[in-house]
Amino acid sequence: MDRPPNPTFEVDSDKIGWITFDDPDRSLNVLTEAVMRRFGSCLDEARAAGRERRITALVIRSGKPDSFIAGADIDAIAAIEEPGEAETKIRMGQAVFTDLASIAVPTVAAIHGVCVGGGLELALACSHRVVSDSKKTGLQFPEVMLGILPAWGGTTRMPRLVGLQASLDMLLTGRRVDAPKAKRMGIADEVFPDALFRAKVRDIALALGRGAAAEPRRRRSLASRLLEGNPLGRKAVLAVARRKVLQSTGGHYPAPLKILDILDAHATGSVEASLAAEARAAAALVVSPVCKNLVHVYYLREAARKGAGVEDAAVRPRPVKTLGVLGAGVMGGGIAHLAADNGVRVYMKDIRHEAVTGGLQHARSRFDKAVERRRLSRREAAQRMELISGGLDFRGIAGADLIVEAVVERMDVKRSVLAETERNVGAECVLATNTSSLSVDAMAEVLARPERFCGMHFFNPVDRMPLVEVVRGAKTSDTAVATVYSLALGLGKVPVVVGDGPGFVVNRILGPYLNEAGYLLGDGATIEAVDTAAKAFGMPMGPLRLIDEVGIDVSRHAGSALHEALGERLAPSPVLLALGNTKRLGRKGGAGFYLYEKGEEKRIDPTVYQELGSVVPASRVVSEKDIVDRLVLSMINEAARVLEEGIVRSAGSLDLAMIMGTGFPPFRGGLLRYADTLGAEAILLKLNDLQRAYGARFAPAELIMELSAAGRRFYQAHP
Ligand SMILES: NC(=O)c1ccc[n+]([C@@H]2O[C@H](COP(=O)([O-])OP(=O)(O)OC[C@H]3O[C@@H](n4cnc5c(N)ncnc54)[C@H](O)[C@@H]3O)[C@@H](O)[C@H]2O)c1
Repeated sequence: MDRPPNPTFEVDSDKIGWITFDDPDRSLNVLTEAVMRRFGSCLDEARAAGRERRITALVIRSGKPDSFIAGADIDAIAAIEEPGEAETKIRMGQAVFTDLASIAVPTVAAIHGVCVGGGLELALACSHRVVSDSKKTGLQFPEVMLGILPAWGGTTRMPRLVGLQASLDMLLTGRRVDAPKAKRMGIADEVFPDALFRAKVRDIALALGRGAAAEPRRRRSLASRLLEGNPLGRKAVLAVARRKVLQSTGGHYPAPLKILDILDAHATGSVEASLAAEARAAAALVVSPVCKNLVHVYYLREAARKGAGVEDAAVRPRPVKTLGVLGAGVMGGGIAHLAADNGVRVYMKDIRHEAVTGGLQHARSRFDKAVERRRLSRREAAQRMELISGGLDFRGIAGADLIVEAVVERMDVKRSVLAETERNVGAECVLATNTSSLSVDAMAEVLARPERFCGMHFFNPVDRMPLVEVVRGAKTSDTAVATVYSLALGLGKVPVVVGDGPGFVVNRILGPYLNEAGYLLGDGATIEAVDTAAKAFGMPMGPLRLIDEVGIDVSRHAGSALHEALGERLAPSPVLLALGNTKRLGRKGGAGFYLYEKGEEKRIDPTVYQELGSVVPASRVVSEKDIVDRLVLSMINEAARVLEEGIVRSAGSLDLAMIMGTGFPPFRGGLLRYADTLGAEAILLKLNDLQRAYGARFAPAELIMELSAAGRRFYQAHP
């Protein structure tokens, strides 16, 4: 049977033309090359119909229930290797939207649901945009996050419609905009209630067709007109934006800088010149390694999002309507807030009243913040808060579908809490531990139903850190893994399934990295030199700043757990040992390597050198390259061991965990993808050098020797 064409063009009895996108093969509309060609023919028909007065207005809509158009075809973007080919393809897309923009009758984009990338560019090429107020409606240019820029006219039309400042935020950050914001910014001419949307779209089209609709008010604020109305003002706006971009990206991401170049040269001149500049710039970006790496990370995320955490497709996760949390401390309180924020009923059980109160207060303050930032209405916040309760007894969790344990990090306590909990809940209830350093299998030993038990390792702060390590123990069942995996997705997290091993994946690989930072200080490198080098490599913060962030007590505890489990290779560096003996706690205590006021970093604390005493020699210059080599190769070497031991299934899973758990720079595509650009042979040579200079902790992992001998990459050996 022939597949229905997509999009389609039809004319109704009111002389309204309708172009409807409804891809028969996908759940979302994607603008592939074939769809764009077909759209071009629909526009030809519409243009002819307009000329012959058979239509008075043209509406572009989606046939999907809750989405407009999800953008261009990322597979096609990923496949492009040659800039000339890229430019030709981009120009073809631009030509279709230029056709749309030049149609003589009024054109209306009827936007309900996601309107992303190419979908938004299509809407910008229309003369009018109407938007449904559904929560599902979101307008977004995610291109920068893929290392490219909106090149089907988005970079050109957006500033012409809403002004420079308003468009910069969307173009440079990829931030999603909801219906009310779209109206305030002037992207949307009208916002209609979801329930009336279809009827209102028709009314608007009829009115526009009769020439009876009021012209949309696209008045910008006086401040914006004054500032952007002259070349000097525009230059100033762009200079501020450029500074911000450089600050937040360290200059590692070329796309936002290119967007600024285009706006600088073309925001007010000829549309055609701007389109040509867009196409040229995007063509160069799309073949760049940064774009390829960011697309790789996008695919890793998508695979995690679409996955179930288990191989067997027949396994069904247990739906989690009620969550139990044991321990209402830092992590328990965070998990309870996250669950309620995502509509899951949650009960926190602690052994202290004050802890339960503290957990509830934490959630309340997060919801208050969300109201302040207009992310939630008061009513929504109150409804979510009502989902949380807590107490000291087991009654509240007796009917829970899943229980996450987040009590103190001690094996004896965890074992007795878990065993007691198991006796107080239904046989189907899944138990999970949030431990960061203890063995899941060792906890499972005391359980009657170890198959219902696994790890669910959140990172601190729970609402901000995207990763959840789902730890599969030796006896864990597929159902338990799938249940925890599915809940993590439902809470908006990125789950990665890992095996039971010291520190699992992220903390294990961070172990030698943080420790090496201590050794570097012991060799005379300054705090500033170490942290600056790591940031220059692309890490979101330096390792010493990270130790402060995690807490010096917590990281000392994690470090000694790794030392105990993995041996001398992870013996804490003398500097970190000495640091652990000071009273410093890091950020939460106001002082670590840095000083903090009200939780905000102020500056490096020079007195820390004296306090560390003789383990820190007089400072000397250690080159940025040496610092980065020692820090990053420590991580790569440990990552190779993690892979070798089967703690993660693939190089991609490990890379995703490191990006989501530590902020390892996405523009490098992941730790092992970066390692693959160096090559195993070069890594081996370097590790041998480092081993000669600094000792056995740099002894290369078996896997690196094997890959070097075979001339293979991590991603080939562990796809
Ligand atoms: N803080 C972090 O950065 C972090 C990150 C990831 C994982 N974790 C892990 O999460 C767990 C909790 O850490 P935290 O930082 O939230 O600790 P915390 O000290 O803030 O909270 C622990 C809570 O558990 C309660 N508790 C103790 N015994 C209990 C029992 N028998 N029954 C019920 N509640 C009990 C305590 O009263 C306290 O409120 C630990 O396993 C830790 O390793 C912590």
